[in-house]
Amino acid sequence: MVKSKIIILLIISVIVGFTSTSFNNTEGEVVSIIPKPNKLMLTGGNFVINRDTKIILNGSTEKSINIAEYFNEKLENVVGYKLEILNEKSESKNAIFLNYLIDEKLGDEGYSLTINKNGVNISGSYAGEFYGIQSLLQLLPSEIFGSKKVENLELKLPFVEIEDKPRFEWRGMHLDVCRHFFSVEFIKKYIDYLTMHKMNTFHWHLTEDQGWRIAIEKYPKLSEVSAYREETIIGHHNTDPQKFDGKRYGGIYTQDEIREVVKYASDRFITVVPEIELPGHAVAALTAYPELSCTGGPFKVRTSWGISDDIFCAGNEKTFEFLENVLSEVVELFPSKYIHIGGDEAPKDRWKECGKCQARIKDEGLHDEHELQSYFVTRIEKFLSSKGKQIIGWDEILEGGLAPNAAVMSWRGNAGGIEAAKLKHKVVMTPTTHCYFDYYQTENTENEPLAIGGFLPLEKVYNFNPVPTELTEAEGKYIIGAQGNVWTEYMPTPAHVEYMAFPRMSALAEVVWTEDSKKDFDDFQLRMIKQYKRLDAIGTNYFGKKQIEIK
Ligand code: ACM
Ligand code: ZN
Repeated sequence: MVKSKIIILLIISVIVGFTSTSFNNTEGEVVSIIPKPNKLMLTGGNFVINRDTKIILNGSTEKSINIAEYFNEKLENVVGYKLEILNEKSESKNAIFLNYLIDEKLGDEGYSLTINKNGVNISGSYAGEFYGIQSLLQLLPSEIFGSKKVENLELKLPFVEIEDKPRFEWRGMHLDVCRHFFSVEFIKKYIDYLTMHKMNTFHWHLTEDQGWRIAIEKYPKLSEVSAYREETIIGHHNTDPQKFDGKRYGGIYTQDEIREVVKYASDRFITVVPEIELPGHAVAALTAYPELSCTGGPFKVRTSWGISDDIFCAGNEKTFEFLENVLSEVVELFPSKYIHIGGDEAPKDRWKECGKCQARIKDEGLHDEHELQSYFVTRIEKFLSSKGKQIIGWDEILEGGLAPNAAVMSWRGNAGGIEAAKLKHKVVMTPTTHCYFDYYQTENTENEPLAIGGFLPLEKVYNFNPVPTELTEAEGKYIIGAQGNVWTEYMPTPAHVEYMAFPRMSALAEVVWTEDSKKDFDDFQLRMIKQYKRLDAIGTNYFGKKQIEIK
């Protein structure tokens, strides 16, 4: 059904030669840039990169050199040679010019890309130059995305004029490395996926009930105890009786590994936002340090999914001492302006029965446990603010009163985002309805690998508009972007993460980059034909690919 629609569209666009939405070059081939540029015009003709083509830096610094080298690395993998990088004025017509340029029209992250008989010209801020290179790569044959040498690959580019900039400043993807742990190598591959989609924020979910994944020097037991669980549930969490695999499971990132990932991301203009969950999703930490709970434990790093009643005690000063020490190390590792402090799914049962928590409520003149959570988050916010950071948290942090400078990640639908924007707080939209990539991609789940549930098809992701219609134009400005969330309870392997993330990540990339008025799902599908070829070149295990291998 969808396939035949694509073929018809393909035929129509070849006959017409140019449609109002997709772009076809002189050979009738669809120019496929994802996310779709806001302005693109084909001007007829081709430029071919060869061994003699130079990369010429204009306004060069280390950053431009790095961008040129990034491009060279891709080239060398596939065609076996690099282009000479020159730092001089040149009249050459066989060159890719990288022009550092601050231009109001292009903003912080926009770029212009012109290809004509005078060569290739990319202009913008450093991020802009980098995104120009990403578009350039997508104008080349899809093989350029692979790492294998391809004999006689012609590096032919269409003459084109592009002027482009993103709609939102937060273009994010999240990954839960706690329910299942992923190697640094895969984290870098995941960052590469964000890169090719011009996304700029990697939300790294590092602490959970089922495993703590960031080494903290002051608390070695987080690495020794909290990072490992005895075993893992088999099958869906809702099955009764639950069965377990009997295999110890876990892993931790050393601080050197964290630094390596942050640097890798930063070289690609991606900010890594770490998430340290509080006051809930803390059982792994409490297993090592039970004195930070209301009951004193003992606890076991959780082996099944779902929400735990045991959370950090809000009445115990030691909890704040612990979290402040942890966060002191975290802020040194992550240059991100935002630190994600979780805040979701923290049942208040323990706090209701805990003498220390009740004493805190009384002493602070709070009305209830929701206000106690607000006290907790506000205290952490003050601490992080003293370190020059801002907090972002799941929309539960609205309950009991939002901390003064907190940004909100709206996940339980749009309501939290709407409320926060009306209160003039910044918002990232990640509603389950459009952004939860752990949901099934088809209603036909019989032959699908087990997922948490739900149904989120590609078209629904694509048609998401992060700015709710309930907001006025002024309120809508508080929506700084959107993000796809990948919770990994049911994704034990990298291949399985890819299966759930793709092609939905491509659709979300367009949601956060391209102006709403320029989006068109049929046109996107047409451009996806080449995107799938790029993913094939990378070796991505996307949904819809034949012979799915997820184990
Ligand atoms: C969430 O999905 N618990 C934020
Ligand atoms: Zn307590």
